[in-house]
Amino acid sequence: MLISIPDVLNAEQVAHARQLLDAADWVDGKGTAGYQSAKAKDNMQLPENSPAARELGDMILSSLSRNPLFNAAALPLQIFPPLFNRYSGGQSFGTHVDNAIRIHPSAPVRIRTDLSATLFFAGPEEYDGGELCIEDTYGVQRVKLPPGHMVLYPSTSLHHVTPVTRGARICSFFWLQSMIRDDSKRSLLFDLDLSIQRLGRDLKNNTVAEQTSVQLTGVFHNLLRQWAEM
Ligand code: NI
Repeated sequence: MLISIPDVLNAEQVAHARQLLDAADWVDGKGTAGYQSAKAKDNMQLPENSPAARELGDMILSSLSRNPLFNAAALPLQIFPPLFNRYSGGQSFGTHVDNAIRIHPSAPVRIRTDLSATLFFAGPEEYDGGELCIEDTYGVQRVKLPPGHMVLYPSTSLHHVTPVTRGARICSFFWLQSMIRDDSKRSLLFDLDLSIQRLGRDLKNNTVAEQTSVQLTGVFHNLLRQWAEM
């Protein structure tokens, strides 16, 4: 399942982030790539421990923790601290799959990458190219979102970033381990959750609908109890 999550950050947060990112010292992005993806990767990154990366990473994680759509879609267990990249002057990232396991930089925790996330900081009108192209079962999805918006997609997908031929594409990217490893099970729980929420908005003292809502909520939690890995 590929899903866009709008307004993860508000306009003020995006503006603050842009101030820090535009003034930051960027380094060659090959530093965090695996052997194979280093050959495909041509971009700049913020060093993981730079003050800007830490401050903005915390801001993103704090916003995500309060985002109902993100939590319903991802059912997150562990989130890797957000990283930041910048593409300009024809830079691109060729087709690759993200590493399966990431070691948390500041905790003795290994994170299985079930979902990959890209959060956009530059508006689509600021640069040409720089589309995130994700191959899924329905073909190639080309993603380029407004600032503050984020795309979440299965880390099993082959993906690439097309060359940025004008301006600069600035994004945050990170991975997470979900409580639900299997993408199709996670999608079922998401659909069920959305249906329950929709039903809840339309109850209007209808006893049968209320009982159905309670029953479906029970089904949701009992499936989660069966499938969740902690
Ligand atoms: Ni990638």
